[in-house]
Amino acid sequence: MIVAHLSLIDFRNYETAEVDLVAGPNVFVGSNGQGKTNLVEAIGYLGTLGSHRVSTDQALIRSGQDAAIVRARLEHAERDVLLEVQLNRTGANRAQVNRVPVKPRELPRHIATVLFAPEDLALVRGEPSGRRRFLDQLLVQLTPRLAGVLADYDRVLRQRNSLLKSARGARVAQSQLSTLGLWDERLVELGSQIIDARADLASRLRPHVTAAYEGIAGAGHVADLAVELSILGAQPDDEGVPTALDPENLSTGSAGSRTADDFRDAVARVRRSELDRGITLVGPHRDDLMLVLNGLPARGYASHGESWSFALSLKLASAALLRAESPIGDPVVVLDDVFAELDESRRAQLATAIGDYEQVLITAAVLDDVPAELAGHTIRISAGRVVEAAP
Ligand SMILES: Nc1ncnc2c1ncn2[C@@H]1O[C@H](COP(=O)(O)OP(=O)(O)OP(=O)(O)O)[C@@H](O)[C@H]1O
Ligand SMILES: [Mg+2]
Repeated sequence: MIVAHLSLIDFRNYETAEVDLVAGPNVFVGSNGQGKTNLVEAIGYLGTLGSHRVSTDQALIRSGQDAAIVRARLEHAERDVLLEVQLNRTGANRAQVNRVPVKPRELPRHIATVLFAPEDLALVRGEPSGRRRFLDQLLVQLTPRLAGVLADYDRVLRQRNSLLKSARGARVAQSQLSTLGLWDERLVELGSQIIDARADLASRLRPHVTAAYEGIAGAGHVADLAVELSILGAQPDDEGVPTALDPENLSTGSAGSRTADDFRDAVARVRRSELDRGITLVGPHRDDLMLVLNGLPARGYASHGESWSFALSLKLASAALLRAESPIGDPVVVLDDVFAELDESRRAQLATAIGDYEQVLITAAVLDDVPAELAGHTIRISAGRVVEAAP
Protein backbone atom coordinates (compact mmCIF):
# COMPACT_ATOMS: atom_id res chain seq x y z
CA MET A 1 0.00 0.00 0.00
CA ILE A 2 1.20 3.50 -0.76
CA VAL A 3 -0.04 7.04 -0.22
CA ALA A 4 -0.30 8.44 -3.74
CA HIS A 5 -1.58 11.88 -2.84
CA LEU A 6 -1.85 13.90 0.37
CA SER A 7 -4.02 16.99 0.89
CA LEU A 8 -3.91 19.14 4.00
CA ILE A 9 -6.08 22.03 5.11
CA ASP A 10 -5.14 24.00 8.23
CA PHE A 11 -2.98 21.19 9.55
CA ARG A 12 -0.11 22.51 11.74
CA ASN A 13 1.63 25.26 9.73
CA TYR A 14 -0.05 24.34 6.41
CA GLU A 15 -2.93 26.48 5.22
CA THR A 16 -3.30 24.10 2.30
CA ALA A 17 -0.97 21.56 0.75
CA GLU A 18 -1.24 19.15 -2.16
CA VAL A 19 1.54 16.59 -2.41
CA ASP A 20 2.03 13.82 -4.95
CA LEU A 21 4.01 10.89 -3.59
CA VAL A 22 5.63 8.00 -5.40
CA ALA A 23 6.22 4.35 -4.59
CA GLY A 24 9.65 3.79 -3.06
CA PRO A 25 11.53 6.54 -1.25
CA ASN A 26 10.29 10.15 -1.02
CA VAL A 27 12.49 12.74 0.67
CA PHE A 28 11.12 15.93 2.25
CA VAL A 29 13.90 18.44 2.52
CA GLY A 30 14.03 21.96 3.94
CA SER A 31 15.50 24.04 6.75
CA ASN A 32 14.52 23.58 10.37
CA GLY A 33 10.98 24.49 11.32
CA GLN A 34 9.54 24.59 7.80
CA GLY A 35 6.99 21.78 8.05
CA LYS A 36 8.70 18.51 7.05
CA THR A 37 7.76 16.62 10.19
CA ASN A 38 4.27 18.14 10.09
CA LEU A 39 3.68 16.51 6.70
CA VAL A 40 4.68 13.02 7.78
CA GLU A 41 2.89 13.49 11.10
CA ALA A 42 -0.33 13.96 9.11
CA ILE A 43 0.17 10.61 7.38
CA GLY A 44 1.07 8.95 10.67
CA TYR A 45 -2.14 10.32 12.14
CA LEU A 46 -4.26 8.38 9.65
CA GLY A 47 -2.52 5.16 10.65
CA THR A 48 -2.52 5.62 14.41
CA LEU A 49 -5.17 8.28 15.14
CA GLY A 50 -2.58 10.18 17.06
CA SER A 51 0.57 12.19 16.80
CA HIS A 52 4.00 10.95 17.78
CA ARG A 53 4.69 14.38 19.29
CA VAL A 54 1.61 15.46 21.21
CA SER A 55 -1.04 13.58 23.14
CA THR A 56 -4.02 15.70 22.12
CA ASP A 57 -5.10 16.82 18.67
CA GLN A 58 -5.33 20.54 19.51
CA ALA A 59 -1.75 21.33 18.45
CA LEU A 60 -2.38 19.74 15.04
CA ILE A 61 -4.98 22.34 14.07
CA ARG A 62 -3.45 25.44 12.52
CA SER A 63 -3.37 28.18 15.10
CA GLY A 64 -6.40 30.45 14.88
CA GLN A 65 -8.43 27.85 12.95
CA ASP A 66 -11.27 25.63 14.14
CA ALA A 67 -10.56 22.47 12.18
CA ALA A 68 -7.86 20.67 10.24
CA ILE A 69 -8.37 18.23 7.40
CA VAL A 70 -6.04 15.43 6.33
CA ARG A 71 -6.97 13.59 3.16
CA ALA A 72 -4.99 10.81 1.52
CA ARG A 73 -5.49 8.81 -1.64
CA LEU A 74 -4.09 5.33 -1.10
CA GLU A 75 -3.19 2.82 -3.74
CA HIS A 76 -3.77 -0.71 -2.51
CA ALA A 77 -2.97 -3.74 -4.62
CA GLU A 78 -6.31 -3.81 -6.43
CA ARG A 79 -8.05 -0.56 -5.59
CA ASP A 80 -7.74 3.06 -4.52
CA VAL A 81 -9.05 4.22 -1.17
CA LEU A 82 -9.70 7.82 -0.20
CA LEU A 83 -9.30 8.53 3.51
CA GLU A 84 -10.22 11.75 5.21
CA VAL A 85 -10.17 12.95 8.79
CA GLN A 86 -11.34 16.28 10.11
CA LEU A 87 -9.90 17.32 13.46
CA ASN A 88 -12.19 19.70 15.28
CA ARG A 89 -11.12 22.09 17.99
CA THR A 90 -14.45 21.55 19.73
CA GLY A 91 -16.59 18.49 19.25
CA ALA A 92 -15.71 15.08 17.93
CA ASN A 93 -13.44 14.43 14.97
CA ARG A 94 -14.99 13.12 11.79
CA ALA A 95 -13.75 10.63 9.25
CA GLN A 96 -14.63 9.34 5.81
CA VAL A 97 -13.60 6.37 3.72
CA ASN A 98 -14.33 6.84 0.03
CA ARG A 99 -16.49 9.83 1.01
CA VAL A 100 -18.71 7.72 3.26
CA PRO A 101 -18.76 8.85 6.91
CA VAL A 102 -17.21 6.32 9.29
CA LYS A 103 -15.92 6.34 12.85
CA PRO A 104 -12.34 7.68 12.97
CA ARG A 105 -11.19 4.39 14.45
CA GLU A 106 -12.03 2.70 11.13
CA LEU A 107 -9.23 4.59 9.35
CA PRO A 108 -6.30 2.44 10.54
CA ARG A 109 -7.92 -0.59 8.91
CA HIS A 110 -6.96 0.95 5.57
CA ILE A 111 -3.53 2.38 6.24
CA ALA A 112 -0.58 1.11 8.23
CA THR A 113 2.28 3.42 9.07
CA VAL A 114 5.46 2.94 11.06
CA LEU A 115 7.04 6.22 12.01
CA PHE A 116 10.47 6.59 13.53
CA ALA A 117 11.41 9.98 14.97
CA PRO A 118 13.92 11.32 17.50
CA GLU A 119 11.15 11.23 20.13
CA ASP A 120 11.33 7.44 19.97
CA LEU A 121 14.50 7.50 22.03
CA ALA A 122 12.03 7.62 24.92
CA LEU A 123 10.97 4.09 24.01
CA VAL A 124 14.29 2.92 25.40
CA ARG A 125 15.10 5.57 27.98
CA GLY A 126 11.67 6.70 29.11
CA GLU A 127 8.88 5.44 31.32
CA PRO A 128 7.14 2.06 30.90
CA SER A 129 3.98 3.82 29.69
CA GLY A 130 5.67 4.68 26.37
CA ARG A 131 6.62 1.04 25.79
CA ARG A 132 3.11 -0.14 26.66
CA ARG A 133 1.73 2.36 24.15
CA PHE A 134 4.17 1.08 21.53
CA LEU A 135 3.03 -2.51 22.04
CA ASP A 136 -0.65 -1.65 22.15
CA GLN A 137 -0.49 0.48 19.04
CA LEU A 138 1.13 -2.35 17.12
CA LEU A 139 -1.40 -4.82 18.55
CA VAL A 140 -4.26 -2.72 17.27
CA GLN A 141 -2.64 -2.32 13.86
CA LEU A 142 -2.34 -6.10 13.60
CA THR A 143 -5.64 -6.96 15.30
CA PRO A 144 -8.06 -4.00 15.14
CA ARG A 145 -10.57 -5.82 17.38
CA LEU A 146 -8.24 -5.38 20.34
CA ALA A 147 -8.84 -1.62 20.35
CA GLY A 148 -12.18 -2.41 22.00
CA VAL A 149 -10.61 -4.65 24.64
CA LEU A 150 -8.01 -2.00 25.50
CA ALA A 151 -10.68 0.70 25.78
CA ASP A 152 -12.88 -1.54 27.96
CA TYR A 153 -9.95 -2.37 30.22
CA ASP A 154 -9.21 1.34 30.66
CA ARG A 155 -12.80 1.99 31.62
CA VAL A 156 -12.91 -0.88 34.12
CA LEU A 157 -9.61 0.28 35.57
CA ARG A 158 -10.88 3.82 36.07
CA GLN A 159 -14.07 2.64 37.74
CA ARG A 160 -12.25 0.14 39.92
CA ASN A 161 -9.79 2.84 40.95
CA SER A 162 -12.52 5.23 41.94
CA LEU A 163 -14.17 2.51 44.04
CA LEU A 164 -10.82 1.77 45.72
CA LYS A 165 -10.31 5.46 46.35
CA SER A 166 -13.72 5.86 47.96
CA ALA A 167 -13.13 2.83 50.17
CA ARG A 168 -9.69 4.11 51.12
CA GLY A 169 -8.97 4.86 54.74
CA ALA A 170 -12.57 4.44 55.81
CA ARG A 171 -13.81 1.18 57.24
CA VAL A 172 -14.62 -0.77 54.15
CA ALA A 173 -18.29 -1.65 53.92
CA GLN A 174 -19.28 -5.18 52.98
CA SER A 175 -21.25 -3.88 50.00
CA GLN A 176 -18.16 -2.11 48.68
CA LEU A 177 -16.16 -5.32 48.93
CA SER A 178 -18.70 -7.28 46.95
CA THR A 179 -18.85 -4.57 44.27
CA LEU A 180 -15.07 -4.70 44.17
CA GLY A 181 -15.31 -8.45 43.59
CA LEU A 182 -17.36 -7.81 40.45
CA TRP A 183 -14.81 -5.32 39.15
CA ASP A 184 -12.04 -7.79 39.94
CA GLU A 185 -13.59 -10.30 37.56
CA ARG A 186 -13.91 -7.77 34.72
CA LEU A 187 -10.36 -6.60 35.34
CA VAL A 188 -9.02 -10.14 35.20
CA GLU A 189 -11.07 -11.11 32.17
CA LEU A 190 -10.09 -8.11 30.02
CA GLY A 191 -6.59 -7.75 31.46
CA SER A 192 -5.72 -11.39 30.76
CA GLN A 193 -6.63 -10.92 27.11
CA ILE A 194 -4.27 -7.95 26.91
CA ILE A 195 -1.47 -9.73 28.75
CA ASP A 196 -1.72 -12.76 26.47
CA ALA A 197 -1.96 -10.65 23.32
CA ARG A 198 1.09 -8.61 24.31
CA ALA A 199 3.09 -11.71 25.21
CA ASP A 200 2.23 -13.26 21.91
CA LEU A 201 3.13 -10.07 20.06
CA ALA A 202 6.44 -9.83 21.91
CA SER A 203 7.36 -13.35 20.89
CA ARG A 204 6.59 -12.59 17.24
CA LEU A 205 8.44 -9.27 17.40
CA ARG A 206 11.55 -10.66 19.10
CA PRO A 207 13.34 -12.25 16.15
CA HIS A 208 12.70 -9.13 14.05
CA VAL A 209 14.17 -6.87 16.75
CA THR A 210 17.25 -9.04 17.09
CA ALA A 211 17.74 -9.10 13.32
CA ALA A 212 17.13 -5.36 12.92
CA TYR A 213 19.59 -4.46 15.66
CA GLU A 214 22.24 -6.73 14.21
CA GLY A 215 21.53 -5.19 10.82
CA ILE A 216 22.28 -1.72 12.14
CA ALA A 217 24.99 -2.36 14.70
CA GLY A 218 26.65 -5.42 13.20
CA ALA A 219 27.09 -8.98 14.34
CA GLY A 220 27.90 -9.69 17.97
CA HIS A 221 25.24 -7.36 19.38
CA VAL A 222 22.19 -9.08 20.75
CA ALA A 223 19.02 -7.10 21.28
CA ASP A 224 16.19 -8.93 22.98
CA LEU A 225 12.94 -8.20 24.72
CA ALA A 226 10.47 -9.66 27.17
CA VAL A 227 7.28 -8.52 28.83
CA GLU A 228 7.60 -7.91 32.56
CA LEU A 229 4.37 -8.79 34.30
CA SER A 230 3.11 -7.05 37.41
CA ILE A 231 0.83 -10.00 38.15
CA LEU A 232 3.99 -12.07 38.59
CA GLY A 233 5.46 -9.52 40.98
CA ALA A 234 7.34 -7.13 38.71
CA GLN A 235 6.99 -3.48 39.71
CA PRO A 236 8.33 -1.52 36.76
CA ASP A 237 6.26 1.58 37.51
CA ASP A 238 7.56 1.83 41.07
CA GLU A 239 11.25 1.86 40.27
CA GLY A 240 13.40 4.43 38.55
CA VAL A 241 15.80 2.09 36.83
CA PRO A 242 15.38 -1.66 36.57
CA THR A 243 17.84 -3.43 38.78
CA ALA A 244 18.38 -6.74 37.07
CA LEU A 245 16.55 -9.20 34.94
CA ASP A 246 14.39 -11.40 37.07
CA PRO A 247 13.33 -14.36 34.95
CA GLU A 248 10.46 -14.99 37.37
CA ASN A 249 8.67 -11.85 36.18
CA LEU A 250 9.23 -12.23 32.49
CA SER A 251 6.95 -13.59 29.88
CA THR A 252 8.31 -14.20 26.41
CA GLY A 253 5.58 -16.37 25.02
CA SER A 254 1.89 -16.70 25.31
CA ALA A 255 1.12 -17.52 28.90
CA GLY A 256 -2.08 -19.27 27.92
CA SER A 257 -4.76 -20.32 30.33
CA ARG A 258 -2.65 -19.68 33.42
CA THR A 259 -2.81 -15.91 32.99
CA ALA A 260 -6.26 -15.44 34.46
CA ASP A 261 -5.39 -17.63 37.47
CA ASP A 262 -2.14 -15.77 38.07
CA PHE A 263 -4.01 -12.50 37.73
CA ARG A 264 -6.68 -13.56 40.25
CA ASP A 265 -3.98 -14.68 42.71
CA ALA A 266 -2.19 -11.37 42.31
CA VAL A 267 -5.36 -9.38 42.91
CA ALA A 268 -5.96 -11.31 46.13
CA ARG A 269 -2.35 -10.83 47.18
CA VAL A 270 -2.41 -7.04 46.84
CA ARG A 271 -5.96 -6.49 48.17
CA ARG A 272 -4.74 -4.92 51.42
CA SER A 273 -2.29 -2.51 49.74
CA GLU A 274 -4.84 -1.59 47.08
CA LEU A 275 -7.32 -0.62 49.77
CA ASP A 276 -4.59 1.36 51.54
CA ARG A 277 -3.37 3.15 48.44
CA GLY A 278 -6.62 3.49 46.55
CA ILE A 279 -5.31 2.29 43.18
CA THR A 280 -5.13 -0.89 41.13
CA LEU A 281 -1.64 -2.28 41.61
CA VAL A 282 -1.50 -5.24 39.24
CA GLY A 283 -2.48 -5.68 35.63
CA PRO A 284 -1.31 -4.82 32.13
CA HIS A 285 -1.42 -1.10 32.98
CA ARG A 286 1.56 -1.74 35.30
CA ASP A 287 3.57 -4.03 33.01
CA ASP A 288 6.65 -3.13 31.02
CA LEU A 289 8.38 -4.22 27.89
CA MET A 290 11.87 -5.01 29.09
CA LEU A 291 14.47 -4.22 26.44
CA VAL A 292 17.69 -6.13 26.81
CA LEU A 293 20.98 -5.42 25.10
CA ASN A 294 23.76 -7.96 25.41
CA GLY A 295 22.18 -9.33 28.58
CA LEU A 296 21.66 -5.99 30.34
CA PRO A 297 18.52 -3.86 30.56
CA ALA A 298 18.84 -1.18 27.88
CA ARG A 299 17.20 1.38 30.10
CA GLY A 300 19.84 2.73 32.42
CA TYR A 301 22.70 0.81 30.77
CA ALA A 302 22.76 1.36 27.00
CA SER A 303 24.75 4.26 25.54
CA HIS A 304 23.11 7.04 23.58
CA GLY A 305 23.99 5.45 20.24
CA GLU A 306 22.90 2.02 21.42
CA SER A 307 19.61 3.37 22.74
CA TRP A 308 19.03 5.16 19.45
CA SER A 309 19.75 2.00 17.46
CA PHE A 310 17.49 -0.04 19.75
CA ALA A 311 14.59 2.37 19.29
CA LEU A 312 15.11 2.30 15.54
CA SER A 313 15.22 -1.51 15.64
CA LEU A 314 11.88 -1.64 17.45
CA LYS A 315 10.33 0.41 14.64
CA LEU A 316 12.01 -1.56 11.86
CA ALA A 317 10.84 -4.75 13.55
CA SER A 318 7.28 -3.38 13.69
CA ALA A 319 7.47 -2.66 9.97
CA ALA A 320 8.76 -6.16 9.26
CA LEU A 321 5.98 -7.74 11.32
CA LEU A 322 3.27 -5.64 9.66
CA ARG A 323 4.70 -6.54 6.29
CA ALA A 324 4.57 -10.23 7.20
CA GLU A 325 1.15 -10.26 8.85
CA SER A 326 -0.99 -7.32 7.78
CA PRO A 327 -3.64 -7.97 5.13
CA ILE A 328 -3.16 -4.48 3.65
CA GLY A 329 0.44 -5.00 2.62
CA ASP A 330 3.56 -3.06 3.55
CA PRO A 331 3.23 -0.25 6.04
CA VAL A 332 4.34 3.19 4.93
CA VAL A 333 7.74 3.54 6.59
CA VAL A 334 8.46 7.06 7.84
CA LEU A 335 11.93 8.10 8.96
CA ASP A 336 11.91 11.56 10.50
CA ASP A 337 15.35 13.15 10.90
CA VAL A 338 17.12 9.84 11.23
CA PHE A 339 20.03 9.98 8.82
CA ALA A 340 21.69 13.04 10.39
CA GLU A 341 22.16 10.97 13.57
CA LEU A 342 23.93 8.06 11.92
CA ASP A 343 27.47 7.54 10.72
CA GLU A 344 28.22 6.62 7.10
CA SER A 345 28.09 2.86 7.54
CA ARG A 346 24.90 2.87 9.60
CA ARG A 347 23.27 5.12 7.00
CA ALA A 348 24.08 2.60 4.31
CA GLN A 349 22.81 -0.28 6.45
CA LEU A 350 19.57 1.52 7.18
CA ALA A 351 19.10 2.31 3.48
CA THR A 352 19.40 -1.39 2.74
CA ALA A 353 17.02 -2.34 5.53
CA ILE A 354 14.22 -0.11 4.25
CA GLY A 355 15.10 -0.26 0.56
CA ASP A 356 12.40 -2.65 -0.57
CA TYR A 357 9.37 -1.35 1.33
CA GLU A 358 6.58 -0.26 -0.98
CA GLN A 359 6.88 3.33 0.22
CA VAL A 360 9.30 5.15 2.47
CA LEU A 361 9.00 8.80 3.56
CA ILE A 362 12.14 10.51 4.77
CA THR A 363 12.64 13.98 6.21
CA ALA A 364 16.01 15.71 6.31
CA ALA A 365 17.23 19.25 6.81
CA VAL A 366 20.32 18.46 4.74
CA LEU A 367 19.83 16.39 1.60
CA ASP A 368 23.44 15.23 1.65
CA ASP A 369 22.74 13.28 4.83
CA VAL A 370 20.39 10.98 2.90
CA PRO A 371 22.08 8.13 1.00
CA ALA A 372 21.99 8.90 -2.72
CA GLU A 373 20.00 5.78 -3.62
CA LEU A 374 17.09 7.07 -1.51
CA ALA A 375 17.15 10.67 -2.72
CA GLY A 376 15.50 10.20 -6.12
CA HIS A 377 12.15 11.84 -5.40
CA THR A 378 12.76 14.94 -3.31
CA ILE A 379 10.14 17.44 -2.23
CA ARG A 380 11.24 20.84 -0.98
CA ILE A 381 9.33 22.32 1.95
CA SER A 382 9.50 25.97 2.92
CA ALA A 383 7.41 27.87 5.48
CA GLY A 384 4.42 25.53 5.37
CA ARG A 385 4.43 25.24 1.59
CA VAL A 386 5.43 22.53 -0.83
CA VAL A 387 7.61 24.63 -3.09
CA GLU A 388 9.07 22.18 -5.52
CA ALA A 389 9.03 18.48 -6.29
CA ALA A 390 11.85 17.02 -8.32
CA PRO A 391 11.12 13.69 -10.04
N1 LIG B 1 -0.85 24.26 15.12
C1 LIG B 1 0.08 24.98 14.49
N2 LIG B 1 -0.27 26.14 13.86
C2 LIG B 1 0.66 26.87 13.22
N3 LIG B 1 1.95 26.54 13.14
C3 LIG B 1 2.36 25.41 13.73
C4 LIG B 1 1.43 24.58 14.44
N4 LIG B 1 2.11 23.53 14.93
C5 LIG B 1 3.38 23.69 14.57
N5 LIG B 1 3.54 24.81 13.85
C6 LIG B 1 4.80 25.32 13.28
O1 LIG B 1 5.36 24.35 12.42
C7 LIG B 1 6.77 24.49 12.46
C8 LIG B 1 7.46 23.18 12.73
O2 LIG B 1 7.26 22.37 11.65
P1 LIG B 1 8.01 20.96 11.64
O3 LIG B 1 8.10 20.37 12.97
O4 LIG B 1 7.35 20.19 10.57
O5 LIG B 1 9.45 21.43 11.20
P2 LIG B 1 10.56 20.60 10.42
O6 LIG B 1 10.59 21.08 9.01
O7 LIG B 1 10.36 19.16 10.63
O8 LIG B 1 11.86 21.14 11.17
P3 LIG B 1 13.14 20.36 11.76
O9 LIG B 1 14.10 20.23 10.63
O10 LIG B 1 13.63 21.31 12.78
O11 LIG B 1 12.69 19.08 12.31
C9 LIG B 1 7.13 25.43 13.59
O12 LIG B 1 7.52 26.67 13.05
C10 LIG B 1 5.85 25.54 14.34
O13 LIG B 1 5.70 26.79 14.95
MG1 LIG C 1 11.27 17.79 11.87
